[in-house]
Amino acid sequence: MNQEAWKKVEAAIASSKDLTIKDMFAADPARAQKYTLKAAGWMLDYSKNRIDSSVMKSLIKLAEASNLKAEIEKMFTGKKINATENRAVLHTALRNMDPKARVNVDGKNVMPQIRKVLADMGEFATSVRTGKHRGFTGKKIKYIVNIGIGGSDLGPAMATIALAPFSKRSIKSFFVSNIDSTHLAEVLREVRADQTLFIVASKTFTTLETMTNAQSARAWLIEKLGDKKAVAKHFVAVSTNADEVSAFGIDVKNMFGFWDWVGGRYSLPSAIGLSHMISIGPNNFKRLLKGYWKMDKHFRTASLGRNMPVLLALLGILYSNGYGAESYAVLPYEQYLSRFPAYLQQLDMESNGKAVTKDGEKVTYATGPIEWGEPGTNGQHAFYQLIHQGTRLIPCDFIGFCKTHNPIADHHDKLMANLFAQTEALAFGKTAEQCRAEGDPENLIPFKTFEGNRPTNTLLADALTPETLGALIALYEHKIFVQGVIWNIYSFDQWGVQLGKVLAKNVLDDLVAKKAKKLKHDSSTNALITHYRKVLGRDA
Ligand code: F6P
Repeated sequence: MNQEAWKKVEAAIASSKDLTIKDMFAADPARAQKYTLKAAGWMLDYSKNRIDSSVMKSLIKLAEASNLKAEIEKMFTGKKINATENRAVLHTALRNMDPKARVNVDGKNVMPQIRKVLADMGEFATSVRTGKHRGFTGKKIKYIVNIGIGGSDLGPAMATIALAPFSKRSIKSFFVSNIDSTHLAEVLREVRADQTLFIVASKTFTTLETMTNAQSARAWLIEKLGDKKAVAKHFVAVSTNADEVSAFGIDVKNMFGFWDWVGGRYSLPSAIGLSHMISIGPNNFKRLLKGYWKMDKHFRTASLGRNMPVLLALLGILYSNGYGAESYAVLPYEQYLSRFPAYLQQLDMESNGKAVTKDGEKVTYATGPIEWGEPGTNGQHAFYQLIHQGTRLIPCDFIGFCKTHNPIADHHDKLMANLFAQTEALAFGKTAEQCRAEGDPENLIPFKTFEGNRPTNTLLADALTPETLGALIALYEHKIFVQGVIWNIYSFDQWGVQLGKVLAKNVLDDLVAKKAKKLKHDSSTNALITHYRKVLGRDA
């Protein structure tokens, strides 16, 4: 992080630190308008933050000092910014709807292959939805089971729940990710083999969980339908690895490809979105891409001070690095976004959970925050107590929609009243005087006082649609990118997940060994393995 520019942010924070959000609202009647911005179908009200003009100016200067505009261009134009894997980062090309667009990787325009896969996906999705593609026994497909994990699961799973109002309800979608056999077993109880399409989604097609689940699903299907040839009608693959796909036994003509310049956690708009496309149809999938694209264009062209992803990123940095906040909460007041916080966890924490700068040095400042959340109003009756009165600072993003897909009585007004009221309560709190005026006894005043000054962003759209969902995802993708640039870390690799994978392989060998071996782990791991083998009678 540019230390000179960061020192100026710290100085700006110090000079405004005696002013609370409440003071700042009192001093400026136009504050809400000043700190509200619209883009790609979303309105961001960031006025309830600990910011004034000098803090914002210093943050923008920090972004400038990090060459943010140039870094954005590098990403959009296919430069190999994922240097530790020597890869371009081009999820934005996947949703570039400009028919004249050219995006080169190694001198080759990637747009034609993107369009070709999208068209193939559309054709296949339509044939499944209309019943043209049938199962081995001639039955229509009624169940889609996506087998994948991480980015090959969370995106389509989150989006399929989010856009349920746009889905074909006669086709039911399931997502199997965990290697825990319970996950697969419970899904298989819900489906019929002769009407199920399995989509094996894996960028590498080597991921242990996905391959294990896919093998077991395949064995189940063959057992149920009594013929190996059934696999061709009931299994398709989504991957970058054609060799592994055919080694698994799926004909590559039933494979939908993507490319190494699409990161797993950024891959929903690629062929990884196939299960989602079958659910909502190719036209709605296109609308989703259009929403992403709108936010992409805003991000690429808007000035830093009027740029929604940039502002969210800078506010996050303000609290992480300026106030020591360790986490932030994402609180969608929309049941259809119930998996959005989980989706964001991978997006943010796998991207920016890094402690080494691009120069290979240990960072000297906090990087990726912990992201968490639950849909409102459930969270209010669970963890909001800590956000309101706890000792930790937890900045929150509140997400809401003016219209609901399911109007029943006055539910939606009550839901949104809660959203707005929470941001009000967090910012303005409740003073001891107010408690006294309401007749609270003196001994309870300390407990009933809310200090307020707790920062929130409010993101509002008219309705949850494919377009607004796409734009929302792109908003957070780019926010995370901006933070990575400012922290000077690589946001598009994930070496941190490798060690656990290697060690699990070693442990597995010891768990299943025919005869107990001399274990070579630490004493704790050795004891756990020995106990497990004993309970299962493996050393009897
Ligand atoms: O968890 C590590 C990871 O590589 C993620 O980045 C990725 O989304 C997930 O595993 C699944 O990988 P794949 O799509 O190759 O199966």
